[in-house]
Amino acid sequence: MRKPLIVANWKMHGTQTFVRRFIAALEEGKDALRQPEAEARVVICPPFPYLLSLVEQLGTGLGAKVLVGAQDVNAQKDGAFTGEVSASMLSDCNAHYVIVGHSERRHLCAESDLLVAQKFAAAQIAGLTPILCVGETLRQREQGLTLEVIAKQLQSVAELPGVDMTRQLVVAYEPVWAIGSGKTATPQQAQEVHHFIREQLGEAGSRIQLLYGGSVKSTNAKSLFAEIDIDGALVGGASLEAQEFLNICRLAGATCSVG
Ligand code: PGA
Repeated sequence: MRKPLIVANWKMHGTQTFVRRFIAALEEGKDALRQPEAEARVVICPPFPYLLSLVEQLGTGLGAKVLVGAQDVNAQKDGAFTGEVSASMLSDCNAHYVIVGHSERRHLCAESDLLVAQKFAAAQIAGLTPILCVGETLRQREQGLTLEVIAKQLQSVAELPGVDMTRQLVVAYEPVWAIGSGKTATPQQAQEVHHFIREQLGEAGSRIQLLYGGSVKSTNAKSLFAEIDIDGALVGGASLEAQEFLNICRLAGATCSVG
């Protein structure tokens, strides 16, 4: 049984004051964070410097409902990699999730499919749940290459020795042209790709949570969540406003057709 999952990606935004205010707003709106059984369905991915303080401020109350994730991880176990953060460090700081292969990192930091796969493996080995982002550019969509691009991005991870595509992972479909652009994929476009991803994942596909990401807001979330293969969202811009984020969480609880 898949549960709805909403992940906030704060990207390079926030301050200590922002974190404190966000937590206070979550405390006030915690009806939106209702937990079906014991599994969390809300994850916040702050910039690294705020990760541990977010974990501490969530404490045991909100912390039972909201888990913390990172936005990136280094593929190496440890060593002389100035400025980098390992999966075991994230785990040591009580992070549970990590985003890998976000299109901003693929494009702005030139991360290859192989590097994304290595980060995915490092996360799993450290006991973190990787949130693997896949998605096509506008040009690729216009050329009819969407499914081919997604298949290749999935396959490069699945093929890496040590990766287990049957457990402990989330896939986020994020069309590059929809990220931060205000343009969302139509529910039908998103559903088509989600269905394809589930098929690509084989037998485990029916158990794996698949998120949609790309300009998700409370005004478009409901129709996306109504699609059978969309289990929630990876939310960027709209996750920076606590009330808006809580509204999206409420819609996921009420609308996601989990199966
Ligand atoms: P957006 O970002 O919601 O601002 O489009 C989504 C993401 O990049 O994860």
